[in-house]
Amino acid sequence: MKKITLKKIYLKKEKHVGIACLTAYDASFAQYLDDCGVDIILVGDSLGVVIQGYKNTHKVSQSNIEYHTKLVSRGRKKSYLIADMPINTYKEPKQALRNAKKLINECGAEMIKIETNKANLNVLNYLAKNNIPVCAHIGIKPQHIKFPHEYKRQGKTSKSKLNILKEATFVEKAGAKLLIVECVEESLAREISKKLSIPVIGIASGKYCDGQILVLYDLLGISFNGIPKFIDKKYFKTKNIKERIKKFIQDARRIPKV
Ligand code: KIV
Repeated sequence: MKKITLKKIYLKKEKHVGIACLTAYDASFAQYLDDCGVDIILVGDSLGVVIQGYKNTHKVSQSNIEYHTKLVSRGRKKSYLIADMPINTYKEPKQALRNAKKLINECGAEMIKIETNKANLNVLNYLAKNNIPVCAHIGIKPQHIKFPHEYKRQGKTSKSKLNILKEATFVEKAGAKLLIVECVEESLAREISKKLSIPVIGIASGKYCDGQILVLYDLLGISFNGIPKFIDKKYFKTKNIKERIKKFIQDARRIPKV
């Protein structure tokens, strides 16, 4: 058994081998993803939609994420485990540190994820200084979105492009160890991946990121709110779950050369 460490994830960026990430919320799927060879499992607050059946992620609580992180942690052996911090659980540095420590020390997470903006860089920085590995999340931030139709591609105008680029640089400087970019123009996501030294994982952000992430239930075609348009329909050609996951991993590993 070869455990995926953060060091190995950084090596993948260096060697231009794509990093494959998927969400999971329970032990059985965690074991499945682990067996298929996924690098990172995220216990996303997307569970508010795909598990709990809400329209958005806003009702997910700290105890929900703690519970699901424990389940996933029990099921996986090799994959690197990230736990998402739900809305309102990282409003100020000390609260964020308290909650992040629970996820890491008591639930088995190896890193936590927060949605970042200029206003909460102090939180990110405080966590990093207290040895909490942080994954930042920019572009579309689901905790700011109420309805699925509000998902719009980011970075289309030169002003928004510049803002997102700045945000990416700021989070790296503030101490983020990983970055997720969601629903960002492909060329911008590519620029961010080239510019930053931390690995950049994309969702609906084109094929040039250092890695790819999807909500597992979207890949399986069973999401409560419907399947997002950006999910490549080629994955649905096979009904076999393992084959579908393996195909996604295979695609994520290949970053096209430009
Ligand atoms: O909550 C989640 O599953 C996420 C992914 C979409 C990246 O944040």
